[in-house]
Amino acid sequence: MRIIEVESYKEMSRLAARMIGGQVALKPNCVLGLATGSSPIGTYEELAADYQAGILDFSQVRTVNLDEYCGLTPDNPQSYRYFMDLHLFGKVNVDKANTHLPNGAAPDMQAECARYEALVESLGWPDLQLLGIGHNGHIGFNEPAEDFPTCVHTVQLAQSTIQANSRLFDRVEDVPTQAVTMGIGAIMKAKRVLLIAGPDKKEIVEKAFRGPVTPQVPASILQLHRDATVIFAKKDA
Ligand code: F6R
Repeated sequence: MRIIEVESYKEMSRLAARMIGGQVALKPNCVLGLATGSSPIGTYEELAADYQAGILDFSQVRTVNLDEYCGLTPDNPQSYRYFMDLHLFGKVNVDKANTHLPNGAAPDMQAECARYEALVESLGWPDLQLLGIGHNGHIGFNEPAEDFPTCVHTVQLAQSTIQANSRLFDRVEDVPTQAVTMGIGAIMKAKRVLLIAGPDKKEIVEKAFRGPVTPQVPASILQLHRDATVIFAKKDA
């Protein structure tokens, strides 16, 4: 595992976008595993700028996102589908039909988990999986637990995750308490993993990547991935 420390969020975003852009250039029909949240917004801005500048072509790229809130329809501005359309898909020439997220509003969540697992497998496990990290060490919405969940599953969000994510909602009560997420299995099957973390994640980055591998710190499993890179930004700006 490589841990790269950079000075700023801007630098982290540029470097991450360069790695993702390199993947797209190398294999135009690659499968990109994508994340939402504050961490990748700058990366998506950089990718969109590279597309606008004619440097990148997403026309054949397929994407699979890690997770989605339960109970939110895709047109809900708090949904991760809405986030992805806003920050990336609407700004590049990816074919929307090739962009995939779990359906958090599916009537039968068990069937939805099975559908999404089969879909990701049929596309081929991601060539590159982009990740953020929660303050409690979650990746996707794999929260600290007794074991590492392998498959797509629904999860009860940790109170600390609900609090952290409430910054994007009017009231903490509006944050969904459940989500559907790819398991650790799919993340570990990605050919390459790229995790980005800002300065507020200093403590958990240390714990996850320099401490013991344990399901109590889900991201720590990445120490065992054959090609994992962490980019840690020392400052916000
Ligand atoms: C989101 C996701 C989460 C976030 C994590 C960090 O799709 O999978 O694991 O990456 O909660 O979120 P930010 O980047 O907002 O600090």
